[in-house]
Amino acid sequence: QENSRWHILDTSDDVAKAACQRILAAAEQAIAEQGIFKLVLAGGSAPEKTYRLLAKAQADWGKWFIYYGDERCLSEEHKNRNSVMATRTFLAHVAIPESQIFTIPAEFGPKLATEFYQNIVADALPFDMVLLGMGEDGHTASLFPGLQYNQDELVHAVHNSPKPPAERVTISARGLSTSHEVIFLIIGSNKEDAIKRWKSGENLPVACIQPETPIDIYTAGE
Ligand code: 6PG
Repeated sequence: QENSRWHILDTSDDVAKAACQRILAAAEQAIAEQGIFKLVLAGGSAPEKTYRLLAKAQADWGKWFIYYGDERCLSEEHKNRNSVMATRTFLAHVAIPESQIFTIPAEFGPKLATEFYQNIVADALPFDMVLLGMGEDGHTASLFPGLQYNQDELVHAVHNSPKPPAERVTISARGLSTSHEVIFLIIGSNKEDAIKRWKSGENLPVACIQPETPIDIYTAGE
């Protein structure tokens, strides 16, 4: 993809350092220009180390607004929720006001949670920075290859995700692309095949994320 810049790093620690710097720089710039910073968090395991670094960083936390790219429909405190991971590693340790953290209420099921979140996203757009991961099959957020998504929607209810749990809520490709910056964090040698397919121009979900500015992809084999 011409619109992507690849950063092939040695380890997941290097990815976390680079991502943390990028996020803090984006925050400073957004806050200087418009007084607030709107960040969309990624799920999965790849961003964990980045979140732990952010938790120790200095920032103007009172001006940060937090959103989620996708969430798994599990009970509120379930350890496999993306929001529970982000809270444990990052949000619990910084002074972002709770009213500025927009968790997807996925415990109410995909339909209700989607209805709720689409208003939140519509009000938030454009985001300042979107963080994303990628699965072995080229999925990102909960946009999976082979599933049908209604292109009119800003947020989709997912009922048959191939990655458990089956029920999920995800911001659409259009919503995730409506951001000043998008960065991907991709860890693991098991992602190499999908990376090749993405680079060769295959129509994978990751390739549907097309913001106006170049995408930065930070990747490491372990
Ligand atoms: C989720 C995700 C998903 C994830 C990728 C990569 O809820 O599972 O948001 O899109 O980011 O599957 O996950 P890993 O980083 O764990 O490989």
